[in-house]
Amino acid sequence: MESVMSPGRVLLSQTQIRARVRQLGRNITRHYRRPSPHGQRPFFLGVMNGALFFLGDLLRAVDLDHVEIACVRLASYAGAQSTGSLRGLAGLDALGKSVAGRRVLIVDDILDTGRTLSALAARLKKLGAADVKICVLLEKRRAHEIPVRADWTGFKIADAFVVGYGLDYNGRYRTLKQIRVLSTDCGK
Ligand code: IMP
Ligand code: MG
Repeated sequence: MESVMSPGRVLLSQTQIRARVRQLGRNITRHYRRPSPHGQRPFFLGVMNGALFFLGDLLRAVDLDHVEIACVRLASYAGAQSTGSLRGLAGLDALGKSVAGRRVLIVDDILDTGRTLSALAARLKKLGAADVKICVLLEKRRAHEIPVRADWTGFKIADAFVVGYGLDYNGRYRTLKQIRVLSTDCGK
């Protein structure tokens, strides 16, 4: 009997996601509107591909005039397992000049082991970012292997593998409108 992984129950509906992203947009707007010695042009850095939908919707929900946007492509997962090694960080060095002295907001889909976000935040600081903050749509409610705190979190979720709204399983299911729990269908 073959077991196939496929999207199961809906964890977060489109309506829930939309409402929460709007709230996050308002909170982030309020924060970055405050005067800062590091200037008024925050730099939003999306982590591709998972944060693609979230970044787009968050940017629509934010009301700030001079945000600069860039993306970095990082990967650590194979299937539903973290591989422990992070690929793609080197691509960040090209951003060096743009982030130096700036306030950077990392936008990612999910905080799981914490490896991706801690490595990324450390590299941005090394490149001279004046301030690094983190916004994630989802955070798994389990001890992160590396202690990382998100400054803005959309939803805290149980420790399950989820897909949809940008999150994938081996490149599949990213375009689902809702966030669903990946589950095993036996006997198909
Ligand atoms: P971390 O480094 O373990 O915190 O995980 C980082 C990356 O793994 C996230 O940015 C996601 O791209 C991916 N990831 C972790 N958990 C899930 C999941 O449940 N579904 C899909 N991707 C995940
Ligand atoms: Mg990711």
